[in-house]
Amino acid sequence: MTNIESNKNPFIIGHPAKGSDFFGRKDLLCSVKSFLQSDSIHLFLSGQRRVGKTSLLQNIRDNFKNNTTGIVYINLQTGISSRLETLLKRLVSKIAGKLKFDTGKINFEDLEINFEDILIEILKSDTNKTIIVLFDEFDVMYSGASINKFAEVLSNSTDILSRVGGRLKLIYALGGNYSGNKNAKENLFRSKTKYLNISSFELETVRELVKLSESSIPFEQAAIRTIYRLTSGNPYYTQCLAYRAFDYAEILKSKSITEKIVQRQFVPSVKSFGNATAVIWNGLSDMDKLILFISAHVLEEQIFVDAYFFFDKALKLGIDINFRNINPKFNKLKRNKFLCPKGINRFDFETEFMRKWIFLFVKKKEVQCN
Ligand SMILES: Nc1ncnc2c1ncn2[C@@H]1O[C@H](COP(=O)(O)OP(=O)(O)OP(=O)(O)O)[C@@H](O)[C@H]1O
Ligand SMILES: [Mg+2]
Repeated sequence: MTNIESNKNPFIIGHPAKGSDFFGRKDLLCSVKSFLQSDSIHLFLSGQRRVGKTSLLQNIRDNFKNNTTGIVYINLQTGISSRLETLLKRLVSKIAGKLKFDTGKINFEDLEINFEDILIEILKSDTNKTIIVLFDEFDVMYSGASINKFAEVLSNSTDILSRVGGRLKLIYALGGNYSGNKNAKENLFRSKTKYLNISSFELETVRELVKLSESSIPFEQAAIRTIYRLTSGNPYYTQCLAYRAFDYAEILKSKSITEKIVQRQFVPSVKSFGNATAVIWNGLSDMDKLILFISAHVLEEQIFVDAYFFFDKALKLGIDINFRNINPKFNKLKRNKFLCPKGINRFDFETEFMRKWIFLFVKKKEVQCN
């Protein structure tokens, strides 16, 4: 009897990429380093859903920790319904813990009023150590009044924190919806604040990532380019497609992962892993949805969208739309990286994975609201 052992799929979906599973982001890590050396207090890392915010924060946690730096990680999703007092207590206790400050000495009553004084007292207890606080899912501050106030308290502490020689640095990961709301963000955090954007991988990083399967079933160069073309280097989509292609190659007992295998697995992977796209989609305005819906249908037959194809398709789909002022909307979708220019007045979807999802899953009645 032969025992055929199957290769373990090395791609990861659904949990943050850590250690040797973490790829790319060298520029961002460099910028984080210069933020830590600067006199800024706050750093916002914004990026779309599933672009790798948590992975980046966890990588910062693992790599910047040393004898003189303590790192605190707080996922605000788990504090979404907490009172302000509870959130402040959680933060203060964690910082105290890193500095071995006896929490018994802290008067947690009236923390809302004494927050700054207590924080300074704790920070002064060990002047050799810097604390970096990583706030994940900071965009939940839009969904809870206390969290919103929590952000206010943090931004109000900027001046006082500047006076302790930058020994407390605050890093916030923000999802697409919140980062889209520029005004609210800028109104709260004005001074000593830096912003960085987390975007997709370059082709080189995708090449590195797919080497995860090199020792079992390697990817052919054409297959890698196809993954990149279909995902535009979005880390999550890249992993999803590589994962399915690997499994399929395993079933076929193929020695390598070919372009054809990747192509065959494209629609199945859009179907299996569309959740992240659904979340992004739900955060879009009605007009954005309408434009993307029509464009997604145009691009099923054409290689680019322009005004002619767009109007023609809308007509064929029976969508009645007021087309006045539509150009600024297209430009906004390009700026937000949903669409990308393809010559003058022509464009394509930035990510084919997302286009296909819209084409397959969004129903006309969902976008027909005006
Ligand atoms: N640096 C990376 N290297 C390899 N894979 C990555 C990297 N960053 C993200 N990924 C892939 O993307 C997926 C999502 O990553 P992560 O959970 O960090 O994103 P996120 O932006 O925090 O998502 P969410 O918006 O759901 O909180 C991971 O499970 C992994 O498959
Ligand atoms: Mg996350």
